Amino acid sequence: MNQDLEKRIREAMLNPQNLGELAGADSVGTVGNSECGEMLRMWVKFKDENGKRVIDRATFQSFGCETAIAVASLATELIRGKTAEEALALKTEELAGELGPLPPMKIHCAQLVEGALRSALDPNHEAATPAAPPSLPSATPNLLDSFTKPKEGGVRVVFLDKKPADKP
Ligand code: FES
Repeated sequence: MNQDLEKRIREAMLNPQNLGELAGADSVGTVGNSECGEMLRMWVKFKDENGKRVIDRATFQSFGCETAIAVASLATELIRGKTAEEALALKTEELAGELGPLPPMKIHCAQLVEGALRSALDPNHEAATPAAPPSLPSATPNLLDSFTKPKEGGVRVVFLDKKPADKP
């Protein structure tokens, strides 16, 4: 990874935006990468604006890949105010925004963010799950719970297909 990119990722990591669970989210998407073990969950909440249903806020949780966190931080800011269709039309490199072009070994980190976004926004995406109703106790499972607690149903992680750009 070149030093410029490392610096931009470090800067994004110093003040990550939209980190954590989003109470009252309308949709949640969770994806994982079986190669590196990283997982990312994204929450999305909509609002009505000028007769359109647009993204009011999106938040995320991640296990710790710095590139994925940096991209998710930028992407959750980028999609604010967009319709689901507009957000879904964004390409992987657009989600990575000001990080600029990612090296081949880091492209899958941005694809993980894209996958979680698709999972949350596309009702036909197989990983999409409805958000827990806000009236439920605050025991909404977090990412770590997905691994450490016995499954009670409701959360399913879909591992993304390896795309050609990931191959060495
Ligand atoms: Fe796999 Fe970043 S190293 S998501």
